[in-house]
Amino acid sequence: MSFQIPRGTQDILPEQAAKWQYIEQIARELCRRYNYQEIRTPIFEHTELFLRGVGDTTDIVQKEMYTFEDRGKRSLTLRPEGTAAVVRAFVEKKMFGLANQPVKLFYMGPMFRYERPQAGRFRQFVQFGIEALGSNDPAIDAEVIALAMNLYKEMGLKKLKLIINSLGDKDSRNTHREALVNHFKPRITEFCHDCQNRLEKNPLRILDCKQDHEHELMKSAPAILEFLNDFSKTYFEKLQQYLRQLDIPFEVDANLVRGLDYYNHTAFEIMSNAEGFGAITTLCGGGRYNGLAEELGGPETPGIGFALSIERFIAALKAEEIELEINAGIDCYLAYLGEEAKDYTVGLLQQLRLAGFSAERDYLNRKIKAQFKAADRLNAKYVAVLGDEELKNNKINVKNMATGEQVEIELALFIKQFQALQE
Ligand code: HAM
Repeated sequence: MSFQIPRGTQDILPEQAAKWQYIEQIARELCRRYNYQEIRTPIFEHTELFLRGVGDTTDIVQKEMYTFEDRGKRSLTLRPEGTAAVVRAFVEKKMFGLANQPVKLFYMGPMFRYERPQAGRFRQFVQFGIEALGSNDPAIDAEVIALAMNLYKEMGLKKLKLIINSLGDKDSRNTHREALVNHFKPRITEFCHDCQNRLEKNPLRILDCKQDHEHELMKSAPAILEFLNDFSKTYFEKLQQYLRQLDIPFEVDANLVRGLDYYNHTAFEIMSNAEGFGAITTLCGGGRYNGLAEELGGPETPGIGFALSIERFIAALKAEEIELEINAGIDCYLAYLGEEAKDYTVGLLQQLRLAGFSAERDYLNRKIKAQFKAADRLNAKYVAVLGDEELKNNKINVKNMATGEQVEIELALFIKQFQALQE
């Protein structure tokens, strides 16, 4: 019997994994500079968290969750996204009481959605995300957007498009909601079953419907921007002012509603407009979610964040033909010639590794020529050759593979001299 990987998942083999690590490392470094600290939450949570947090009229909750009952008959769900869990932890661990506010967090890890797999859409994917909780200053909205943009730019991506929108505060949303209901109600029977359900519960979701997006009422639907009250309008203008100040080009798209229910005020997405990127062009999505902490039993706390998947990040790099400068290869390959030398390299190899070098040796009893070939395949910077003869004379031969230069080193001084060769 043979097994295949589940649909919508992928194995990240070592060569790919090096790319992942590289991106993750740059993301961590950016978080350090922007002062976001890592938080790690469980892979599964109580299902109720996502019903409340993400919203029970969203596609994620209605169609895409991996929900199961555990042996204690609790309903648990593999996390489809990170924000609900981070805010749950923020409330549960009373992080609102910390001295340093706002609380600025980042996370990186697998998320699960039962979606139809296609290019750029997986059932298990890795999100890198940040959340800033406790500030209502539009400057932090700009900071969150800037961090995402700078991460992409730092990796060399150029064909990016940032779109922003404002969903307004509660009051603005309520008046907009009413206008939407009035707009769709007379002809709601022409819409899909989901949209008919959404009409009363959450009419904003209708605008995000994949099935009915060609319907004429969609284009003429009242846009939220026309319903922003003064506070929401000023907030949105201030954000735009800061983005200009940071030299971040953007477009306002009144149709951007996002697929999760917790958003208000700022909503944004970063898309790739590289040729050949494929149908799904959104690289990153985020926005403000004032009220979510309250919804999850905490005090009123403003919050904003984004998430992006590493899978789409890598797809964008590929579409723009960007090769990452990944330092592959090992520092030293230890080749042997003769039985005694072979035994001796076991200890020598350990010395190299303890001194901080990446080092390898043959484990397949290969002839010296084949050992050199193996060293080549491993992209070794140096090959150190120890023969029985050298061992007797307390010497070892070190060859620089780039220049071809060779030096003979006293065996007792090998590690020290090898270190000196690097300078
Ligand atoms: P989201 O728009 O659902 O937002 O997902 C954010 C990003 O995750 C997307 O832009 C995309 O890069 C990636 N993504 C989503 N689904 C898939 C998939 N099936 N396969 C590959 N990549 C995918 C959120 O998840 C919010 N929690 C973002 C947020 C954080 N808002 C505020 N804070």
